[in-house]
Amino acid sequence: MIAMNRVEQAIDAAVAGVCAKDCPPKLAEAIRYAVFPGGARIRPRLCLAVAAACGEDTPAVTDAAATAIELLHCASLVHDDLPCFDDAETRRGKPSVHRAFGEPLAVLVGDGLIVLAFETLTRGTVSAPQRLPALLMTVSRSVGAPSGIVAGQAWECEERVDLASYQRAKTGSLFVAAAAAGAAAAGAAPDPWALFGDRLGESYQVADDIRDVAANPDDLGKPVGQDENHGRPNAVLKMGIDGAIGHFKSLLSAAVDAIPPCPGREALRDLIVVESKRFLPKEVLRHAA
Ligand code: IPE
Ligand code: IPE
Ligand code: MG
Repeated sequence: MIAMNRVEQAIDAAVAGVCAKDCPPKLAEAIRYAVFPGGARIRPRLCLAVAAACGEDTPAVTDAAATAIELLHCASLVHDDLPCFDDAETRRGKPSVHRAFGEPLAVLVGDGLIVLAFETLTRGTVSAPQRLPALLMTVSRSVGAPSGIVAGQAWECEERVDLASYQRAKTGSLFVAAAAAGAAAAGAAPDPWALFGDRLGESYQVADDIRDVAANPDDLGKPVGQDENHGRPNAVLKMGIDGAIGHFKSLLSAAVDAIPPCPGREALRDLIVVESKRFLPKEVLRHAA
C-alpha cells in the first residue's frame, strides 16, 4: 500500500537523525527496536488520508505531522509496557523494550521519542512555518494533560474512572491529533476534525478492549487479559461482549457521520469503512453476526 511505504520512509528518515553516530549505541538500537517493525501504523495513515481529503499541498508537512504522531504512539507503548504500568512482556510479537534492553533504557527511549516527535514537526515545517503553531497545539494537546495520553494513563491512578473519559484520553486523543493535524498540514481548519477523530479513536480502543478479552496473544503479538489482571476499565468487562461490539459499531458509525465537508469526503469515508473491518478479529465478528 502506497501510504504504508510513504509512512515508513518518513519515520525512517526521522529516526535515522537521532540514531546518528554520536548516539549511545544501546539507546540507538533500542529506539529502532521500539519503532521498527511497526504495527498497523493506523494513526499516521489516518493523518495522510485526512490531508489528502483536504487537498494536501505540502507533503513534507503532512509527513512530519504523521511521523510525529506515530513516534508519540510508539513512546506511549514503551512506557505503557513498563512494570509500573501494564508490565507487559511482549509488544508487536517480540519482547517489550524494557524486557529486551532494561527499564532505564526503556524510560529513555520513550522520552527520546517524545522529543524527536516535536523536533520532526519543527524540521518538517520549515517550508510552511505558518502551519507550525496549529500543528504544535494539536499534537501537544493530544499527549499531555488534561485530556491527552498523560491524562489517560493517569486515570489508572484514580479510584473512580469513567470508561469513556479514560478511553478518549488514552487513545481517542491521538486519533483526534492524527485527523486534525492532517487537516492543519493541508492548510485547513483542524477543529472540525476533532469529533471524527474522537469517535474513531474511542471505537479503536473499544476494539482493543474486545481483543484483550477475546483474541489470541500470538495473533496480537502482545499479552491478553491485561485489563482484568490490572483492574483497568474495559468495555467488555463493563457491558459484556455483545454490548461492547454494539458500542464499537455505534462509535464507528458516529465517526463516519462526523467526517466534515471536504473535497475528498466520500473517498475518506470508504477508506474508514474498509480499514475498520480489521479492527476486530474475524471470530469476534462471526460471534456478533
Ligand atoms: C495499541 O495501539 C494501543 C492502543 C491504543 C489500542 P495499536 O493497536 O495501534 O498498536 P500498533 O501500533 O498497531 O502496534
Ligand atoms: C494503551 O492502552 C494506550 C496507551 C496510551 C499506550 P492499552 O494498555 O489498553 O493498550 P495495549 O493493549 O497495551 O496495546
Ligand atoms: Mg497496555
